[in-house]
Amino acid sequence: MQFVDVSLPGGPAREYEVVLGIELPNGVADDLVRWQGAQRWAVITDTRVGPLYGEPLVQALRELGGEAQCLEFPAGERSKTRETVADLQDQLIDLGYGRDSWVIAVGGGVVGDVAGFVAATLFRGIPCVQVPTTLLAMVDSSVGGKTGVDTSAGKNLVGAFLQPRRVLIDFGTLSSLPRTEIASGMAEVIKYGVILDADLFESLEGELLEATLTGSEAALSRIVARSCDLKATVVSLDETEGGYRQILNFGHTVGHAIETVQGYGMRHGEAVAIGMVVEARLASQKIGAPADLADRIASVCARAGLSTQLPPGCSADDIVKAAFHDKKVRRGEIRCALPNTLGTMSVWNGEYGIPVKAEELMASLLP
Ligand SMILES: NC(=O)c1ccc[n+]([C@@H]2O[C@H](COP(=O)([O-])OP(=O)(O)OC[C@H]3O[C@@H](n4cnc5c(N)ncnc54)[C@H](O)[C@@H]3O)[C@@H](O)[C@H]2O)c1
Ligand SMILES: [Zn+2]
Repeated sequence: MQFVDVSLPGGPAREYEVVLGIELPNGVADDLVRWQGAQRWAVITDTRVGPLYGEPLVQALRELGGEAQCLEFPAGERSKTRETVADLQDQLIDLGYGRDSWVIAVGGGVVGDVAGFVAATLFRGIPCVQVPTTLLAMVDSSVGGKTGVDTSAGKNLVGAFLQPRRVLIDFGTLSSLPRTEIASGMAEVIKYGVILDADLFESLEGELLEATLTGSEAALSRIVARSCDLKATVVSLDETEGGYRQILNFGHTVGHAIETVQGYGMRHGEAVAIGMVVEARLASQKIGAPADLADRIASVCARAGLSTQLPPGCSADDIVKAAFHDKKVRRGEIRCALPNTLGTMSVWNGEYGIPVKAEELMASLLP
């Protein structure tokens, strides 16, 4: 097993570990029951992951003497709503859960965000453990404490920060994950390369990408460990996105706008891949980033199986409109985290969110 420490302001009591290479269900149940000391466990998962990993985990917890229940909601981004959260909260209250209970999020980023938000709000906050089962959740959403839901006006508009107590990763769960979902997770890995780690990006331009896509455990554990490490470093420097953490939004201003226009009908990583190429082009046009950066990103994305063309029915106009309704709009300008060059991000007036006008965004959408 490998461990990545996430240290946070407030001292050791708030620190937590990402454990890589633990096994579901028995290794995870053992870790929870022996070391985490809760009285009751609420395993929150979705209808696809529940039968595969959530229900066996509940069984294993019960065999170790723990009290546990499995709560499932319909799989997919369209379930990431206040209604799903309210429904789960009501079920937990009806089942008699209390402040001595812990939430275990078993699933992808949707489950992690929803279950994390339930934990952040129920009884004014109970602990949460993240057990990510998609590549995207392993490399990104399970670490860092952002939780929340979408509304019809935009992505993640309602939410809270709640750092997990522990993140438990079983790479074996990726064997049941469809290839398109692996590709979606690769978008966030490619992002880390662009924003922080030129070596990682260049390795992906080399053989690391195919090795990961074909399921090599060595390649997977390398990219997941490196991604968790990078995310942990960023989060430990800026937990609540006052500044530096904004760099993680590279590709996401446009990506979120595409997701909103598409009515959350496409995968997050697919939207982020398109967003990264558009924003890299913006970085070249606006701040002089290398002209070939957008093409290099597009080429790695294509090899991962990610299209970087705007989806049918999603015009540049729609994206500009949606982006300017996003929560990051200030004084009529949106903020984009933009690379100066491969592996380093640009700072403007001490901020990592660079102000962008509608016409500048439009120009980058129409190459
Ligand atoms: N909180 C954060 O910091 C953060 C960061 C990045 C993304 N996100 C959010 O994460 C979400 C996307 O997460 P995602 O891509 O994991 O999507 P997801 O949770 O919808 O999972 C994708 C699909 O894979 C299925 N699945 C999950 N694990 C499986 C497995 N092991 N085997 C078979 N099927 C499996 C799910 O049921 C779902 O149908 C978005 O809502 C995004 O906004 C949050
Ligand atoms: Zn993302």
